[in-house]
Amino acid sequence: MKETCYNGVDGGGEVNIERILSTDRKAIKRVASMMSETWPQSYPTVEKAIAELDDFLHENSVLLVAKEKDNIIGAIGAAAQYGHTGWELHPLVVDQAHRGKGIGTALVAELEDSMRAKGCVSLHLGTDDEFSKTSLADTDLYPDVFEHIKRIKNLKNHPYEFYQKCGFVIVGVIPDANGLGKPDIMMAKRMPLQKR
Ligand SMILES: CC(C)(COP(=O)(O)OP(=O)(O)OC[C@H]1O[C@@H](n2cnc3c(N)ncnc32)[C@H](O)[C@@H]1OP(=O)(O)O)[C@@H](O)C(=O)NCCC(=O)NCCS
Repeated sequence: MKETCYNGVDGGGEVNIERILSTDRKAIKRVASMMSETWPQSYPTVEKAIAELDDFLHENSVLLVAKEKDNIIGAIGAAAQYGHTGWELHPLVVDQAHRGKGIGTALVAELEDSMRAKGCVSLHLGTDDEFSKTSLADTDLYPDVFEHIKRIKNLKNHPYEFYQKCGFVIVGVIPDANGLGKPDIMMAKRMPLQKR
């Protein structure tokens, strides 16, 4: 088990980031409840999120949690998709009361360290826009999809900008992935060779 300490990230408190396994049922349930609170449309019940995490937690996946004392306040996961070189980041969630304090950034940085150790060279993710949060929503992105990407605007705090601040780049979009005018924004990052 990997454990790293951050000081002063959350109002002067100490936040630890550690890996959890499928056997840690209490932690899985807590992560599932954060997912259900954050994405009720995808996880209307905590049980649905637990089932997804149980499917997700296999040999080629990693789930890290941020803990303040014994309280889990954030989680990040990744699963291998292209052998050991290309991994998908999912899920990433920080408890609402603890957002905007650097915990999301710390989780991404910590995940990158574990990924590098596993031979990952590319980390990618899809970040949906189901609720008109960017200029890529509610419009026909065809035929010149990349022109729309070039001119993307963040209208209502869509997290693509958070990922850009973590070094991810928009590498594409799946128009209408979640229904007409509700795209999935694809982002990726080459893993730095050096440890932070
Ligand atoms: C997105 C999320 C993980 C970010 O975690 P966080 O701990 O709040 O982020 P940080 O405090 O590390 O923010 C780092 C930077 O990103 C910016 N940022 C964070 N969330 C943002 C958002 N939704 N839109 C725009 N910018 C954002 C912050 O303002 C900060 O910018 P700064 O360095 O210029 O001050 C968190 O807000 C969250 O759980 N959101 C709901 C779930 C979600 O959207 N997950 C991603 C799904 S793909």
